[in-house]
Order: sequence, then C-alpha cells, then structure tokens
Amino acid sequence: MRVAIVGATGAVGHELLKVLESSTLQFDELLLFASPRSAGTQLTFRGQPLTVQVTPEGAIDADVILASAGGSISKALAPKWVEGGAVVIDNSSAFRYDADVPLVVPEVNGDAALAHRGIIANPNCTTAIAVVAVAPIHRAYGVKRMIVSTYQATSGAGAKGMEELLDQTRAELNGEQAQASVFAHPIPFNVIPHIDAFQDNGYTKEEMKVAWETRKIIGDDSLKISCTAVRIPTLRTHSEAITLELERPATPEAVRELLAGAAGVEVRDNPEGKLYPMPLTASGKYDVEVGRIRESLVFDGGIDLFVAGDQLLKGAALNAVQIAEYLQQKGALKAKQRA
Ligand code: A2P
Repeated sequence: MRVAIVGATGAVGHELLKVLESSTLQFDELLLFASPRSAGTQLTFRGQPLTVQVTPEGAIDADVILASAGGSISKALAPKWVEGGAVVIDNSSAFRYDADVPLVVPEVNGDAALAHRGIIANPNCTTAIAVVAVAPIHRAYGVKRMIVSTYQATSGAGAKGMEELLDQTRAELNGEQAQASVFAHPIPFNVIPHIDAFQDNGYTKEEMKVAWETRKIIGDDSLKISCTAVRIPTLRTHSEAITLELERPATPEAVRELLAGAAGVEVRDNPEGKLYPMPLTASGKYDVEVGRIRESLVFDGGIDLFVAGDQLLKGAALNAVQIAEYLQQKGALKAKQRA
C-alpha cells in the first residue's frame, strides 16, 4: 500500500505527516509532493528522511492520495490521479458539491465514503468541527435551525496566514505599520468579518460552505443554517458559537450526557471551574472541545453551545486520514498490483 501527500510542505501537509505517524492505516510507503519550490526538501517520517518531489502533471503511482495543495491543483490533477487507480481524499473545495463525490466526516457519515467513485471530499474546516458536535444532537432531537458565529484562526489560510499573524504582530509591537497581504486587513489586535469572497446574498463563501456542507454531511436539505465567519488573531483552532432550534426539546444535562458519549467530542463544560472550550486547550487535540452547553433563551427547548476544534487536525489532516482508515477497516482500500 502506497500513500502520497500532495502539498506535503504546507500547514495541513505538515499535520498529515504527524497524524500518519500514529495512524492505524497500514501502508508500506509514503510519497511526498509539493511545488517545484520545495523539490528536494527533506521531511522526517517515523524517524526517516523523505525527499519532497515536484508534483507531476499526470498520474501518481499511489493507492491513496491525500491532496492539500489548493483547489486549482486538485481540480486539474485529481481526475488524472483517479484514472491512474488511486483513491483521492481531497482537502480542497473543488469537488465538495459534486453529487457523485461523498463529503465525509467519519463519525457522522462514514458509510458515504464507501460509495466513492475515486474522489472523496474532506469538508471545510469550520463545518467539520461543527458537525462532530451537532450531528449527535440532530440524531437525538432533530435540528431545525442552526445559527453559527465563528472565531477562526489564521491557520485557515495555511502556513502563510500563520506567518502573517506573527510578522504583523512583531511589526506592530515595534511601532511599525503592519502590511496586510493574506488577509484583507491587518490581523493583530483586530477581528475581520470577511473570510473568502462575498456572494450575491451578502454572505461570504466561507459562511455558505457551512450551510451547504453541513446539509450534505448530515443528509438533511431542510436544515436552515446561517453563519457569520470571522477571522481572529490566533494561530490555530477554530471556535464557534452555535445556537440550535430543535424539533424535540432538549435539556442541557441531556445534551451534555449525549455528547459525552459521542465519538470525536470532548465535553469541557464546567463554567464555575473556568472549564470551557478554548484554542489554548483544543490546539493539537484530536477531539473537538464542546462546552457552554445551555438552554437557548430564543428557541424554546433549543440549545446554545460553544465548540473549539483544531482546524489543521479535525478540520483537515486528521479527518482526511480518518477517512482512509475507515475505508481500510471496511476492506474498501486495495493496493494496486505493481511489477
Ligand atoms: P510549496 O511549499 O512548495 O509552495 P499552505 O496551504 O500551507 O499554503 O500549503 C500549500 C501546499 O500546496 C504547499 O505544500 C505547497 O507547496 C503546495 N503547492 C502550492 N502550489 C503548488 C503547485 N503548483 N503544485 C504542487 N503543490 C503546490
């Protein structure tokens, strides 16, 4: 079994290497690809140096390709990788809305991955983190409406987003004017309610991704979802305040108990002990932290909660590897015959 990472030198690529180190996925060889800028770079995997290669224009001789080099690379090359016999787990938004491409969070809709036709899409990071907490509540109580406000880290814009936060913070502390390039405005000591492009309806594409993708993963087109997506000056981990209107009334105690038994969730909810989800504690963690679970003051029997999930892990690299693990556990991942 041969696994390849395309975009191995990026922020998500780096996490893919780390997650694969301790993954249960059985494979014999790992191939690393990035842009020509990184050709020859050495990265370490399980104590061994691996050399980064230039991403070829055509097929890659691998059984599983974890792609995290952006939408245009995936759009152009993923069909060729599939033709070459690989299963592609794509971290970009290139194929997420195609009817024949499963959009998968294994804890929620793992079985959808089994129906793939070569490409499986990894959801937008904000969506992946939210659905881990919301799907069990939906199954038990039926979510009718969901209102989300996000607090998203600079890691959502890749390694260069994180560098911009650090560089601009240094500049500001030195009394210099910070120059914005990745983000629309300087990010230190600021919050920016603008992630991805504005749409005709006044929402950003990031906000609409949460609505479109949550519906597809949960498998309920009637779910009404509204999101305000905001970039904040943290390095990694996205946080989200979520309000849920439910078909059947829930109590905070029952939801706390339900989520305590849910896969991929860590309930962190003791306000008196100053225990709640935060980027500080959720960063580097596989589970999504969920807390501040309380009765909605707006929707009778509804629930308000706060989640924090590592965007680079559950929001990207970890979820992608978990999809591969799921396929292998189900016997749906086969190594190609090689001479
Ligand atoms: P490189 O480091 O050589 O530029 P991030 O999302 O953190 O910015 O990372 C993006 C990843 O996608 C990096 O590994 C980057 O490689 C890779 N990448 C960017 N452009 C290309 C390209 N044209 N072909 C292959 N990989 C690319």
